[in-house]
Amino acid sequence: MSLTVEKLLNLKHSKNRGSAPRFTYLGAGAKNKCMDLWLKVLGDIDSYVDVTAGSNNQPYMIGKSKNVPIRVNDASYYSYCIGLGLFTRQTETDIQEFAQLLVDAIESPEDGVFSQYEKMNTTVANYIDGVIALINERFSSGDAGFLKACVGHAIMGRYSMRALTFFYKRDVGVVLPDGTPPTILDFAVTAYRAARRKNSCFYPNGDAFYTHAKTFIETVNLEGATVNFDPAWPFAKKGMVNPYKFYIQVGSILRRQPLPTFPFWVSEKSEAVADEFTTWVALCLQKGAREVYAWNQTTNFPTYDDLVNRLEKDFQVSNALSVQQESTGHKYDFTDYVLKIEGK
Ligand SMILES: C[S@@+](CC[C@H](N)C(=O)[O-])C[C@H]1O[C@@H](n2cnc3c(N)ncnc32)[C@H](O)[C@@H]1O
Repeated sequence: MSLTVEKLLNLKHSKNRGSAPRFTYLGAGAKNKCMDLWLKVLGDIDSYVDVTAGSNNQPYMIGKSKNVPIRVNDASYYSYCIGLGLFTRQTETDIQEFAQLLVDAIESPEDGVFSQYEKMNTTVANYIDGVIALINERFSSGDAGFLKACVGHAIMGRYSMRALTFFYKRDVGVVLPDGTPPTILDFAVTAYRAARRKNSCFYPNGDAFYTHAKTFIETVNLEGATVNFDPAWPFAKKGMVNPYKFYIQVGSILRRQPLPTFPFWVSEKSEAVADEFTTWVALCLQKGAREVYAWNQTTNFPTYDDLVNRLEKDFQVSNALSVQQESTGHKYDFTDYVLKIEGK
């Protein structure tokens, strides 16, 4: 069994199941359950801006359903690549060239950001770094973004949030007679399948940005926009690693740049996060946003009371949506809630 373009192309890929893009994303499952409710809450809107768009599932579905212009932003470059994936349709030729590239990369391993993870299997790491180097070399920027989103998908699909630091060399498995480690084969197949699947999700009426939330809202025109935030709130429970850090790390791998060290919040204390978030909301409303929505969970900081009390000092706040969730991760039920925030 060797990795050939024919093998990649002949692999059955799952058909486009409905209109939703199926990008891997931690936590997106629960959000998708709320989608019908969320579309009703939004009602008629003129344009939609998602400042921390993550996998871009929500803005994509809103764009498709309401047919309004959408803009997405996220501090993770991986999210930006997914955004480009949604707004950039690839041709069948591009996808076949990508399949060839996934094969060629076996001969072109590189040392890159991924290879620098100490415990990472070197063969696999150098292969992935080689794939990204070849994408940069052979494809123009919009197309490269789409294809990097597919590589990011394969990384997220293969490795857990802790994998980049806890992935041991023995995990590579047995090397096949032709020298292709099975992990490389699996990885290439996953990336190729992602390209086929992502290409069936396309929304032409949108823009993707990649920057810190504050910089983004300072920069873009928000006049009349419905602005959504689903930020990486800190967990209320001490000692839990924020899973979105992995998302940011995947972005760095795709950019071939050192891992970012910026914190998500200036301080992770409940009231301090509520204060910082309030400054973002204030700026959106000053810049003419029609309304701002904020998603949160009762497992996070700020607590519901801290967030609502702080926002109510300056704005009108109402509950837009509240959904009971059963959590396996937290081992107890919690509530997902969305606040609607408007000027007084
Ligand atoms: C809860 S997730 C968003 C999930 C998204 N709604 C979805 O369904 O896929 C939070 C996102 O915030 C992003 N993020 C964290 N800090 C940020 C910042 N300062 N500016 C912009 N994005 C940020 C993370 O990269 C992550 O994708």
